[in-house]
Amino acid sequence: MHTCILGIETSCDDTSAAIWYNYKILANITANQEVHKDFGGVFPEKASRAHQVHIVPVVEAALKKAGIQKEELSGIAVTKGPGLIGSLMVGVSFAKSLAYALDIPVLPVHHMQAHIHAHFIDNPKPKFPFICLTVSGGHTQIVLVEDYLKMKIIGQTLDDAAGEAFDKTAKMLGLTYPGGPEIDRLAQAGDPYKYPFPKPRAKDYHFSFSGLKTAILYFLRDQEKLQPDFKTKHIEDVCASVQYTIVNYLLSQLKTACIDYGITEVAIAGGVSANSFLRRQFKELGEEMRWNTFIPEFQYCTDNGAMIAQSGFYLFEQKQFATQELVAEARLPFPV
Ligand code: KG4
Ligand code: ZN
Repeated sequence: MHTCILGIETSCDDTSAAIWYNYKILANITANQEVHKDFGGVFPEKASRAHQVHIVPVVEAALKKAGIQKEELSGIAVTKGPGLIGSLMVGVSFAKSLAYALDIPVLPVHHMQAHIHAHFIDNPKPKFPFICLTVSGGHTQIVLVEDYLKMKIIGQTLDDAAGEAFDKTAKMLGLTYPGGPEIDRLAQAGDPYKYPFPKPRAKDYHFSFSGLKTAILYFLRDQEKLQPDFKTKHIEDVCASVQYTIVNYLLSQLKTACIDYGITEVAIAGGVSANSFLRRQFKELGEEMRWNTFIPEFQYCTDNGAMIAQSGFYLFEQKQFATQELVAEARLPFPV
């Protein structure tokens, strides 16, 4: 008996669908939305509309690439939350309708758990228990992962997420959304020690990024008073310095948590884990601490249907099916 799961992700600005078939991802198709580029962030209504345009062709393309007929599906995994409510509703409604027509279960996936499940798509896989730093556009969490569906948040941001810190800095610098990859690219040619920003602080394993955002805003304003073309002249050094501050902070909180919990299996996940400097520094820290470190394949860091399908498989195994009343949730605590 084969298991075949369609994974659908529409929580933010990427419409993505993937096919999971007997422990392998056969297709992972994503339509990125260009409509947000000039807004410095995601424009929620435009995102919902774009999901409506993309959802059917993206699912059809994934099925076609995998060589799978709809009738072969065992279940449909869909992001239930957290995320933008209008965006989530497009994916959830589509998944419920298709599952109803095919008479198969809907698997309600928690987006942040799915980012962690991206680690199980390909080898090598972390062993339980491990700690995962999950860094995305909306969340920054340190998670103790005891089993596939048993996870506990031990630290998280008290205000902005790490991805938001990248995106808001990029907006201040006049770069297009999403700003993270732009900052990553420009930082390659910059000096990370040029502008030392104060390291943010929060207690225990928590994070706070709003102070850094304000510090960058004032810094740019002051510099521009002295030199009106400061931003264009020094953009590489600013990007490298901001990136250094964010990454350093993320890793120092992660290090403390791992030491305190006595954990040496350590992972990073989420959109910001695509950051080349974070990936490098994390590897280095792992060597220094003698950790086993795990970084998802680049294509599974930012939002993707594959991680949703992978997550859906664990729900399928446990028969954790959604009821017909399933609704999307913008805010969704970790399942216990
Ligand atoms: O996980 P994700 O795709 O979506 C959410 O769940 O939010 O994360 C998106 C975030 C954005 O803030 C984006 O700027 C950031 O990930 N990001 C990066 C990089 N690639 C994506 N941040 C820094 N460097 C990157 N290379
Ligand atoms: Zn995400």
